Amino acid sequence: MKEKVLSILKESGGYVSGQELCERLGVSRTAVWKAVNALKESGYEIESVRNRGYKLKDSPDVLLAEELHSLLKTEWFGRDILYFETVDSTNNEIKRQAEHGGREGLLAIAESQSAGRGRHGRMWQSPAGSGIWMSFLLRPDITPEQAAGITLVAAMGVAAAVREELGLPAQIKWPNDIVVNGRKLTGILVELSTDMECINYVAVGIGINVNNDSFPEEIRDKATSLFAECGHKVSRSRIVASFGKHFERCYKIFMEDKDMRRLRVEYEAALVNKNAEVMIIDADTEKRRRALGISDSGELIVEDADGNTENIRAGEVSVRGVYGYT
Ligand code: BTN
Repeated sequence: MKEKVLSILKESGGYVSGQELCERLGVSRTAVWKAVNALKESGYEIESVRNRGYKLKDSPDVLLAEELHSLLKTEWFGRDILYFETVDSTNNEIKRQAEHGGREGLLAIAESQSAGRGRHGRMWQSPAGSGIWMSFLLRPDITPEQAAGITLVAAMGVAAAVREELGLPAQIKWPNDIVVNGRKLTGILVELSTDMECINYVAVGIGINVNNDSFPEEIRDKATSLFAECGHKVSRSRIVASFGKHFERCYKIFMEDKDMRRLRVEYEAALVNKNAEVMIIDADTEKRRRALGISDSGELIVEDADGNTENIRAGEVSVRGVYGYT
């Protein structure tokens, strides 16, 4: 009920009478009044004026399910939402839910994570309130090899959301870091549960630095946040809603061919490495190459000084810029 009242108030932007709310929702005045009070308790500023009704004046920067549901314009992303004040890792939560029959699109989102994980076994700092720490569940009918593309699709969703909501020049560092002005804004951790050549489920985890105003010493010169880039506090729920919309759009296209062929132009338009010199770093070797773009399956196509090309698979090597992170 809270969710529906919130959604009507948001849609209207002005006063909505108690009578109208009752009629549209098919409930009593008392039920509407209770829902309004519950919203106020969650931090929403709602004005009630006799003979005019209710007006939403301000929304808190919360990631509660009702706030997200009132903004999401998706078919299946975020149909089910689990919100945590704190959780070990939203990726772990999605895996637990997946094992118990969670539906595709289930979103787990937390104010903070006590054991946030990054790629290559690193830890991911997830302080309370400043970022978006979320994971969602996919159950695609594809092979584990094809699933490598999902990480690129997730990166496209974040880059498109940041550009749409804030007009910032968000770019993708292959395969899936989002960078703004050369610094890392977002990390993506995609984990698969497989059975022979089949996928049971995929947990897509995304960490976006949103309102952080400082970073720990060790990542200070390579990390950034939306706040640091645009100079004002940003609504995390709007970014999540925009991400959901763009992810669904791109994922639908991806699933038509189960690869990146129809997304290549959009992906490469955001690719910070396109036509740039990169270092390909293997266990103990470093090769300098020019990155040309991506293949249908999402590999990075690189060229050496003699014009010989090679496809690099995500996860096998790491790629960085010649003069720094990008
Ligand atoms: C990276 O190393 O760049 C990937 C970082 C992924 C972090 C996100 S935050 C939400 C989700 N839960 C986790 O434990 N990790 C991912």
